[in-house]
Amino acid sequence: MARAAVPATVAYSRDMNGPGRELALRRVRLEDAPRIHEWASRPEASRYQAWGPHGYSDTVRFLQDALAAWDADPQRRWVFGAERGAELFGVGEIKWRSPSTFEISYSIHAQYWGQGLGTSLARLLVARVFSAHEDAERVQATCDPRNVASERTLQRIGMIHEGTLRHTKRLRDGWRDSRMYSMLRDEWESEGR
Ligand SMILES: CC(C)(COP(=O)(O)OP(=O)(O)OC[C@H]1O[C@@H](n2cnc3c(N)ncnc32)[C@H](O)[C@@H]1OP(=O)(O)O)[C@@H](O)C(=O)NCCC(=O)NCCS
Repeated sequence: MARAAVPATVAYSRDMNGPGRELALRRVRLEDAPRIHEWASRPEASRYQAWGPHGYSDTVRFLQDALAAWDADPQRRWVFGAERGAELFGVGEIKWRSPSTFEISYSIHAQYWGQGLGTSLARLLVARVFSAHEDAERVQATCDPRNVASERTLQRIGMIHEGTLRHTKRLRDGWRDSRMYSMLRDEWESEGR
């Protein structure tokens, strides 16, 4: 698998205020646990996920697994801390699904919801896939149909809705469906991203 060295930073997107500021992706660290736990412990952060809400040991285990994935060969999972300046505001993840298909997911500190950071992080993840993996043809993402914020995020970055997969995950209150969204390489390139 190609692992080209690409810059982890991109210019602050048009969704953000504050000219000249930048967002960055970096490998997560164990020391991120207290910060990530601030939102991973909140029920609203995992409302539509099979995990959570996290106890502190769950957050530490998540980071341990994420770090182990960074060292796996071949690497199939990339978990990033998303920073604005020195401030960790979210976590973004890329998963290998096949030689040409990668899947993104993301979560933002609940304190910062609704400020455009989710949209910017999703864009950053898509750019990361297509820049770092020359065989990548398709980036996909799924969301619970009830997760309006996540679906709007995928729509805002230009992903296309393909359909709904039924009963993909069992949540605390029953089975959830997953809307499947994707972006192809030429769509990403034609947007000049
Ligand atoms: C989904 C999530 C990442 C969105 O992050 P965010 O920083 O709030 O997103 P943005 O500010 O970029 O907003 C993106 C869109 O969602 C909308 N939105 C944000 N919060 C919303 C809410 N609570 N209800 C409805 N729409 C909402 C925004 O208005 C925007 O849509 P618009 O362009 O039509 O106005 C964030 O809510 C989150 O971390 N949720 C918990 C984890 C999760 O569900 N992750 C997704 C699964 S992979």
